[in-house]
Amino acid sequence: MKNKIEEIKQQLADIKVDSKEQLEEFRLKFLSKNGSIQSLFADFKNVVKEEKPQMGQLMNVLKKDAQALFDKLKSEIKSSDSQEEEKLDLSMPVNSEKPGSRHPISLVRNEIVDIFERIGFVISEGPEVEDDFHVFSALNFPPEHPARDMQDTFFIEKDPDVVLRTHTSSVQVRVMENTTPPIRTISPGRVFRNEAISARAHCIFHQVEGLYVDKNVSFADLKQTLMYFAKEMFGEETKIRLRPSYFPFTEPSAEMDVSCNICGGKGCNVCKYTGWLEILGCGMVDPNVLTQCGIDSEEYTGFAFGMGVERIAMLKYQVKDLRLFFENDLRFLDQFQGAIW
Ligand code: DAH
Repeated sequence: MKNKIEEIKQQLADIKVDSKEQLEEFRLKFLSKNGSIQSLFADFKNVVKEEKPQMGQLMNVLKKDAQALFDKLKSEIKSSDSQEEEKLDLSMPVNSEKPGSRHPISLVRNEIVDIFERIGFVISEGPEVEDDFHVFSALNFPPEHPARDMQDTFFIEKDPDVVLRTHTSSVQVRVMENTTPPIRTISPGRVFRNEAISARAHCIFHQVEGLYVDKNVSFADLKQTLMYFAKEMFGEETKIRLRPSYFPFTEPSAEMDVSCNICGGKGCNVCKYTGWLEILGCGMVDPNVLTQCGIDSEEYTGFAFGMGVERIAMLKYQVKDLRLFFENDLRFLDQFQGAIW
């Protein structure tokens, strides 16, 4: 028995423990139920009576020493572990997960809306599935009038009264029906037209509609508002040009061009060597439209304008094919990473 105790003492003196695994081996070998120290206690009954007090004492000391050594090794390993953690360089760049980014159409839509919000326009929205009245009739498109052909309409379930809106001008009708002037509103949204998809056209796209109705609103107000927009959107040096045009819901009507932001008006292949880019339709709200929407056209006048978001985005980012906005190819979308909105 004495020899065994000495042997274990020696083993404890020689032991080297550097890791959690070795610590566990230590515990199993010496301190566990089946460990060598416990088995000494099992053998204790075979010790001759006279030696029992001495052996018992030696065994207790051995057990205590082994436990103390174990505790010491354990705390050493713990503290070296935490030193390991301190060695972590927290300034190392992380493997960044791509957080995603806004779609370019959303970016441009938000930018347009923001520009008008800065001068007091508020957002209003309307339904994408509309009735004939809000898309056409209230906007002065008489039944069977060829003007309806300007916009190839998707009809819902053969009901000629239910359509997918072909323009966001329908929202100005809804706003005028429900609001007493002054009205200053901007309506972004999705529109639908039965058109063949090409580099320049799509059957789904986005528009932003603007409407201002109050006493004494004039064409000069329209021009000034649009000039402010053009400069904010395309740069301070941008010029605008208004060309007479026709829309059933405005009189007079115009289309607005901005000086080409690519060649600065000198002429290039984007502006087809004219120096100008067409960006929106506009005009003074036709008195008939005000009346249809319950607004007194003797008392109030107004202007309206509408633009395609894809068109503005194509000009701003020099995108040559509209279809890219709908394909969601990450190689295309990634280029708009980092844009703030
Ligand atoms: N709704 C027209 C379109 O989709 C755009 C437009 C033109 C809107 C003139 C207007 C406007 O409010 O005054 O082509």
